[in-house]
Parts: sequence; C-alpha cells; structure tokens
Amino acid sequence: MSHPLWWKEAIIYEIYARSFQDSNGDGIGDLEGIRRRLDYLCWLGIDAIWITPVYPSPMRDFGYDVSNYCDIDPIFGSLVDFDRLVADAHARGLKIVMDFVPNHTSDQHPWFVESRSSRTARRRDWYIWRDGKDGGPPNNWISNFGGSAWERDDATGQYYYHAFLREQPDLNWRNPEVRAAMHDTLRFWLDRGVDGFRMDVLWHLMKDPELRDNPPNPAYQPSQAEIEKLLQVYSADHPDIHGVIKELRGVLDAYPDRVLIGEIYLPLQRLVAYYGEDMSGAHLPFNFQLLQTPWNARMIASVIAEYEGLLSPKTWPNWVLGNHDKPRIAARVGQAQARVAAMLLLTLRGTPTLYYGDELGIGQVSIPPERVQDPWERNEPGLGLGRDPERTPMQWDASPGAGFTTGTPWLPLSPDAAASNVDSLARDETSILSLYRKLIAMRREHPALRAGSYTQLTIEGGDDVLGYIRQHGSERWIVLLNLGASDVTVQSDALAGARVRISTHLDREGDLAAERVILRPAEGLLLQQSSS
Ligand code: GLC
Ligand code: CA
Repeated sequence: MSHPLWWKEAIIYEIYARSFQDSNGDGIGDLEGIRRRLDYLCWLGIDAIWITPVYPSPMRDFGYDVSNYCDIDPIFGSLVDFDRLVADAHARGLKIVMDFVPNHTSDQHPWFVESRSSRTARRRDWYIWRDGKDGGPPNNWISNFGGSAWERDDATGQYYYHAFLREQPDLNWRNPEVRAAMHDTLRFWLDRGVDGFRMDVLWHLMKDPELRDNPPNPAYQPSQAEIEKLLQVYSADHPDIHGVIKELRGVLDAYPDRVLIGEIYLPLQRLVAYYGEDMSGAHLPFNFQLLQTPWNARMIASVIAEYEGLLSPKTWPNWVLGNHDKPRIAARVGQAQARVAAMLLLTLRGTPTLYYGDELGIGQVSIPPERVQDPWERNEPGLGLGRDPERTPMQWDASPGAGFTTGTPWLPLSPDAAASNVDSLARDETSILSLYRKLIAMRREHPALRAGSYTQLTIEGGDDVLGYIRQHGSERWIVLLNLGASDVTVQSDALAGARVRISTHLDREGDLAAERVILRPAEGLLLQQSSS
C-alpha cells in the first residue's frame, strides 16, 4: 500500500511493545519479537503497526518517560534491530508508525539533568520552572496520575511542572530551542524510514502562559481520578497548540507519504480543530468515542452522527476500539458484543485502529496486588484506574508462556490464554479471530467499506439496533448491529435484494428471503445489496 494518502485506506494495529513477543526469554516483548511475528500481521490483513515507545527510558511509565529520543532501549533491542524490523516490514508492505512523546521527557534525560542543575543553567528554560506561591506550588494543577503537578526541587528551591509522574517533567514548547531539538529527533527517525508518528498527549503541549488556576469540576465524583476534580481549562488545549502542530507537520511533510496521528482526549467539537486550519494539523486526530461511549445503540448512533456532522469534506475520520490506556473492549462489553464491536470498527467510515489481542477477545484480567506494574495504580489504588489489565501478553499458543515468552512474563497472562490463542482460534472457523480476519479482508476488497459514504438507517422499534449504509458508486452495503440481548426483527425497504456476507456468528451467508431479517442476540450482519 504505497500512495500519499495510504493512511486513509489503512487499518492500523497498535502493538504494546512490552507485551507482543519476547525473543530472548526475559519476559518482556522486544523489536526482534515483533519482527518474528510480521507474518501473523500480514495474515491478519492489517496495513500499519504503531509501536509504543521503545526509546531508552528508566521505564517509570514504561517508555513514556524518554531519556534519549534517538536510540533504542536495550530491553527492546538496538538500532540494528529497529532497522531490520523496518526493512522486513516494508518488504511485506507494512508501514511502521512510531510513538513520539513530545510533552515530557524522563527526569533522567540529559536536558532535564542540566535544566535542574541551577537557575542559570543553559537549558533551564527548556522545562517549566516557577517559584512557589504562599508556601505551596505555583498553582492548583493536578497530575494526571494524582497529586500536585508541581515538584519542588531542592537544588534551586523552584518547582517544575509535570502533567504525569514527577519523573516526567514537561518540556517548555514555547521555547524555540526545544521545538528545534524535537524536530531534529523526528528527522532522526524519518531518515530511518518510519512512516509516521503517533504523538503522545498532543493536546497538552501548550499551556496558559500565565499558568492560571484550573476551575473546579462541579461534576466530579470521588470514584474518579483526582485530576477530574478540576476542569483542564488552562493546563491543556491552549489555542497556540495549532501553530506547534503545524510546525511538526511541516517536518513530516518534507518526507513523502508520512502520517501524523495525534493522541487527543477532547470532546468532538474541540477534537476536530486538530485537523488544523486548511488541514495543516494532524492527519488523524485520534477519535476515542468508541472507548468512552456506553454500549448503547442510540448513544453510539448519535456519536457517529455528531462526528460525521463536524467533519468537513477534506477531513478524514478515524475510529479507535482499544488502546493500552483503557479497559479492553471484551472486558467492557463481554465476548459476544466484542464481536459486534469488531464489525462496527471495521465497517465505519474512517481509518480503524485496533489494539493487539482484541482480535482474540482478551477480556478482563485481574492483576494480583503483588504483580501490579502501572504507577497510576500505585498512586491512586482501588479506583480501577490501573492499566495493567489491558497490557497482558499476547496469546500465541497453549504453551506455558503462551508463545509470548520462554521465561516469566512481566505481567500475568490472561487465564484463558491456554484455550484462547492465535493457534487455537485460527483453526476455529467461527472464532472472533476468524471474524476479524474476514472483516478485514472484506474491507480491503470493497471500496465502499473503506471509502463509501455513511448514512444512518432508522430502524422502527429496534432500539438496540445500530444500522447504517455504506455506499460508493453503485456499491451499497448495509450494516445491522444488535447491541441487545434479544432477537430483533428488522424490516426495511433498504433490505431489498440484500445478501448476508458476514454474520458476527459466522454461521450464515446468502440472500434474505424478504425485506426483513431477524437479528439474534448480539448478532451483527454485514449485507451487500445484490444490485451492486
Ligand atoms: C499517553 C500514553 C500513556 C502515558 C501518558 C503519559 O496517554 O498513552 O500510556 O502514560 O501519555 O505519557
Ligand atoms: Ca525480551
């Protein structure tokens, strides 16, 4: 797949680097492991992999605390391994998207070590340093992982800002030297042939220059993360961010066919601003609505309608079903509905991003307290915020390490790994893995499913049914998804001459007898109009 807009047609697959494939028995996934599994990714049918950070890092936030932007952490391998992975992926037509962590570095990064050394250090202004106020921090901002977002540093008596862990100081993107240095790190990887970047917490880069206090959130509940106490009015999504992204985009645009993906958790109206004026921003500002919307047909239909309504003809949609920060889809909606979710993701208009292991239906995994890894769980225990459950190792086969490792995996395997793994599910023609593979193949084969228009279908009396039409020229497809637990009869003129191509149950295909169809509980149907 190589044309300038390849990312519009592509299916992106997120690999959590520590958990995909270990190649040396240390229980942690690595680059050589990913390389050995490229044939699987081609077999599945995806087009691009996004790999979570593999840069040198003290791993306080498992790689999102970078201490060198231009190398590979020995845990994951070396630059030689990286180059080999890129070459082998490209030889198979797979794209490689790297994770870029621009908002903060590790506190062990030489830039920060220098910055904190004195008030007059050459790189002092590369980070956000302020005097305290009234014997406390400079303002009321809270860290995303709980507690004050300010850390007092004994060396100089000033505070530095960290939107995440205290070991992740925020860079000062208002400083042109910081911007130039970060642009250089992008070029380092672009020159090595990477096809784009997923940019971490992109909406965080620019803050209010006056660092005003955030207002309280009247809807805050004690069951929520501490950061929810405040509305993030001044600490993120500052209008100046769009100039910064435009520059980042300029760096990528000097190379052919690269993609800029932004991690942005904002309401849709604010999210779409990240496409930038005249499309000068992110190609794909990640749309996380499917991670956040209750599993309810009416609510999902209205989210799709809102998003479609906000997009201009030039902006390209995208949908994300899972990632390393949110509970897995099967954990949220159960095994049966996880199959419906797969059909939804792969038939919506826009680039889909799927998360490794969701194609196996990995569900809820409980992590014993002594095996907790995520610092967020340690900082704010008991609220279910920890992200370890969605980071458990990939399940390849029924062997003790699930084919992931010959050693002890860094996080426990899901208890279902022995029964439910790539090896067993690939041989089961009705498995969720077979469903994913079929949906992906169908999407690749039919332009209407990739690029066709989206029209919502109103279904009489079917409150649990989400229905829509995808059309491209004379090619017309209908998607009917039963998000409920009972049979629903769908009667519609739109069904005239329709043929079932895929049921999420993988047990029926063929022409409908009439302009009606009965959806079984948690059944999704992909229908093709015979005239096309
Ligand atoms: C993003 C990452 C998350 C990380 C955070 C801080 O949200 O996806 O895993 O902890 O940024 O870098
Ligand atoms: Ca390893």
